Amino acid sequence: MPRTALIAAMNEELAALLPAIEGARVEPRGGREFWLGRLAGHEVVAVRSGIGKVAAAVTATLLLDHFRADRVLFLGVAGGIGTAVQVGDVVVADALLQHDMDASPLFPRHEVPLTGLSRFPVDAGFSDAVARGAAAALAEHGETAALLGHGCRVHRGLIVSGDRFVATVGESRALRALLPDALAVEMEGAAVAQVCHAFGTPLAVVRSISDRADDTAHVDFGEFLHRVAAPLGLAIVQHALAAA
Ligand code: ADE
Repeated sequence: MPRTALIAAMNEELAALLPAIEGARVEPRGGREFWLGRLAGHEVVAVRSGIGKVAAAVTATLLLDHFRADRVLFLGVAGGIGTAVQVGDVVVADALLQHDMDASPLFPRHEVPLTGLSRFPVDAGFSDAVARGAAAALAEHGETAALLGHGCRVHRGLIVSGDRFVATVGESRALRALLPDALAVEMEGAAVAQVCHAFGTPLAVVRSISDRADDTAHVDFGEFLHRVAAPLGLAIVQHALAAA
């Protein structure tokens, strides 16, 4: 049975998930707590990475090199960048890019030097299962739509990551101009994608949209995190694992 790594950046994003792990055993390593056990009939190792690309990359490396994870699912919240991406929607990555990587003119903007890549891939089959799981979770969590006053959708496409909380209209507009196909912005996914690519390990990234990365992002972010992120995160993972 493959061992699935489950990573989120913050406690709130894992709050419902950790207590649901059966036979949990906690192993500390590298300043993190790795929770090993079973969830939805699968062997899992779950961990809070902390925020930002370095924290995420360290965590992913430990999961792959020490805990021998066979595949990685990163979950959490993100800011909506795509014009059709609303708060409460879910975005499943088709590719991930570091929007703050810029070694130009030595390398093209956004390309990670010496990899030849700006867009890091995900595993298509695993991401399909996660997208199906997200749709099932949204259907089950009607209160999310009720709370927000609109139906919630699952989108597939580019997620961009950088060491910056995007919290102004100007910044999100600039990101959209530079990367017109970006659907969501967060602070970890592309770093995990780079590590998974280096190890040849399948990856999926799923983010529920907490804010529109605009001037009210910090308010929307906090409220969504407390009211929606934890139960929705657990439901997505349970459905995704059952479907994978
Ligand atoms: N995660 C959730 N919202 C975000 C935002 N606006 N910018 C970066 N990361 C986020």
